[in-house]
Parts: sequence; C-alpha cells; structure tokens
Amino acid sequence: MKKFGVGVIGCGAIFIVHAYPLLRMEETEIKAVCDIKLEARRAAAELFHCDAYSDYRELLARDDIDVVHILTPHYLHAPMAIAAAEAGKHVLTEKPMAISMEQAHAMLEAARRNGVTLGVIFQNRYNAASVAIKNALVNGSLGRIIGQRVVLSWTKPAEYYKRSDWHGTWDKEGGSLMIDQAIHVMDLARWFVDEEIASVQASIANRNHPEIETEDTAEGLITYRNGVKCVFFATNNFTYNAPVVVETHCEDGTALLEFDKAVITYRNGQELTVVNDPAETVNEAEYRAFFNEESSQVALRTLKEWGVIMLPVTWKAPRSYWGVTHIKQIQNFYTSLAEGVPPDITGEEALKTQQLIMAIYQAAKEQRTIEF
Ligand SMILES: NC(=O)c1ccc[n+]([C@@H]2O[C@H](COP(=O)([O-])OP(=O)(O)OC[C@H]3O[C@@H](n4cnc5c(N)ncnc54)[C@H](O)[C@@H]3O)[C@@H](O)[C@H]2O)c1
Repeated sequence: MKKFGVGVIGCGAIFIVHAYPLLRMEETEIKAVCDIKLEARRAAAELFHCDAYSDYRELLARDDIDVVHILTPHYLHAPMAIAAAEAGKHVLTEKPMAISMEQAHAMLEAARRNGVTLGVIFQNRYNAASVAIKNALVNGSLGRIIGQRVVLSWTKPAEYYKRSDWHGTWDKEGGSLMIDQAIHVMDLARWFVDEEIASVQASIANRNHPEIETEDTAEGLITYRNGVKCVFFATNNFTYNAPVVVETHCEDGTALLEFDKAVITYRNGQELTVVNDPAETVNEAEYRAFFNEESSQVALRTLKEWGVIMLPVTWKAPRSYWGVTHIKQIQNFYTSLAEGVPPDITGEEALKTQQLIMAIYQAAKEQRTIEF
C-alpha cells in the first residue's frame, strides 16, 4: 500500500480533527506541520512526532510530502492551495474553499494545471443522518422535491471574536455567519436538492455583534432551475447552538434533518429515523488511550493554554463541532488518491457551494436578485 507523506498547515482549533485521523490511518504519515505561532507548531509537532515550520513554503519544498492539509484562516486557503499545487502536492483544504470566486477559480485552475487533486472539507455530508436523507431523495421513494427550509440559530459570544485575529473581518474571514458556520447547512441543503441554482435573493445584518464588521444574521430565498425554492434563516444571536434544521418537502413525504437526527416521513405514515453515532467514526477506547498518553497530555495542555485548541471533545456531546465525520472524508480523499479517482467532494463540487455563499453576500450588499 502506498504511504502518503502529509504536511499540515495551521495548528489551530481544527488541527486535531485532521491530525488524529492522519495518525490512525495506515496510508498516511504526518511528516511536518506549519504554523506562524511557535507554541502551536511546537505542541503539534510534539504530539505527532514530526518536523515543524513557520513558513509554509519550506514545508512545500519537501520531496517526501505528497498531500497538504490547509487549516488556516479563510483568506489564506487560496494562496496556500495554489502554492501547494504548483509544488506538485495534492490539497485538502478546510471549508470554505476561499473568500471570493476569483480565488476559488484560481485554485481549480492551479490543481488542473499541475495534475493534482483538490478536495474541500464538508464533513457533515458523511453524517449518518445526512446520508439517510440523501439516499431517500436519490432512490426516489420521497418523490419530487417541492420545497426546502433551512434554519440555523446558534450563538457566538463577543469573546469568540475578541480572541481571534481573523474572525469577524471581511478581508480575512470573508464574512462570518454564512461563510463560516451556515456554509455547512447550506452545502447540505444544496446537495439534497442537487440542481443548478437559478437565482438568489438575500439580506444580511449585524444586529448584536458590534465588535465585528461582518454579519451575524442572514435570510433569503434560493430558486433552483427545477423551480424548487429554498427559504433560509440563520443567526448567531441565539443563546446556544440549537439543532440546525434542513427540511426537504417532497411530493411523497418529508425529510427532516435536525442536527444529529434524520426523520423521514412518508405520506403513507411510514417513518424512518436515523441518528448519528460518534462510535461509527471514533473508537472511544482508542481515542481516550491516545489522549491519555503522557506526552499527548503535555502537548495538549500547551495547545489549550495557547488558546488554539478546543478538542479533544469530539467523543460525545456537547461537542465543539457538529459531525465527527472528518475521518470519513479524509479516508475517502486518500482512498481516491490511491485509486486514481476523484474524491467525493472535489474542488468543482465545493465551488458550487462557494458560488451560493458568494451570491448571498452579493445579493444582500447590492440589494438585488442575483441570477446565475
Ligand atoms: N469543518 C469544520 O467543522 C470546521 C470547524 C472549525 C474550523 N474549520 C475551518 O478550519 C480552518 C481553521 O479554523 P480554526 O478554527 O482552526 O482557526 P484558528 O484560528 O484556531 O487556527 C488557524 C491557525 O492558522 C495559523 N496561521 C495563520 N496564518 C498562518 C500562516 N501564514 N502560516 C501558517 N499558519 C498560519 C494560526 O496561527 C492558527 O494557529 C478555517 O477554514 C475554518 O473555517 C472547520
């Protein structure tokens, strides 16, 4: 079996969610990490017994690195992915793909030009509840989709933004609520409908976060070419991260995604419920054992003190992240590389969600309907 040498750029909050699967998977070996913060890269390198760099170009210059994971602030995804592609590395970047369509197209172009694979993380597509709904929509048992609603009511305290040097800014985060949090549900909703978008209407506002320049509230209407309309509402002004809702209304029933649960109700009264199970993706005993190793504890404490890590708490609720299915997408990325086939979520696929998010911002800022 081919062993892929891996470099990880960005050792912040999401780092461990990539690094742990990379350590556990047989076909991957972390060769190096990179972060501009000394404490972050040092602790990450100690945890995963690898080299550390402050300049990602040094990491990209290594011959033994085949794949690069990009876990940095949003505005850096494009320049880093393009440089990695130019260096002949495959790229798996965290969402969002980029902060503009120009950047996103340039990433695709660089990957094509250099014959490398570009993947973008949307792990919630792999949640058991999401898969159950997608299957019910694809197998035709629910009939034609006739409408959809998306509701996200989460919370982001002022401290979250105050401790970050990039969240809450247009030039570094590229927006906030829509491009960072709601992008997960918007991607699922679009994937469920699986049709070209015809137009987008939207409004955004900052109602309760004076410490940031970006939006904390958004709503709108997406019209697909087949006539399906998706109505959405999202806010970061609630008191807790309430279960997200994606309801897909079909001729022969309804597919309701509520956070970790899917309830598929057929017109004949039949009902199917599927609940995400963290044990599907994480072996509790193994996970706990790893994070109880003494060196791991020291490194994790350093990361925590530095304020760059919120995990490992992915095992059971309350979890920092919705969906503990990164491992499934990461596994699919490497299996696809080994087999020479495109991964499930390619750059081209992620571009469609990028285009939707960008259209929401454009529609809101220009106060007009964006026709695709
Ligand atoms: N899929 C998910 O559920 C999920 C959850 C959280 C975050 N994310 C995504 O992961 C990415 C990172 O988010 P985070 O929460 O880990 O952010 P973070 O701020 O905690 O970490 C980012 C890290 O990148 C480092 N960095 C900044 N500039 C750099 C540079 N030039 N070179 C090397 N390192 C640099 C920072 O020092 C920091 O340690 C974002 O794209 C975010 O949207 C995804």
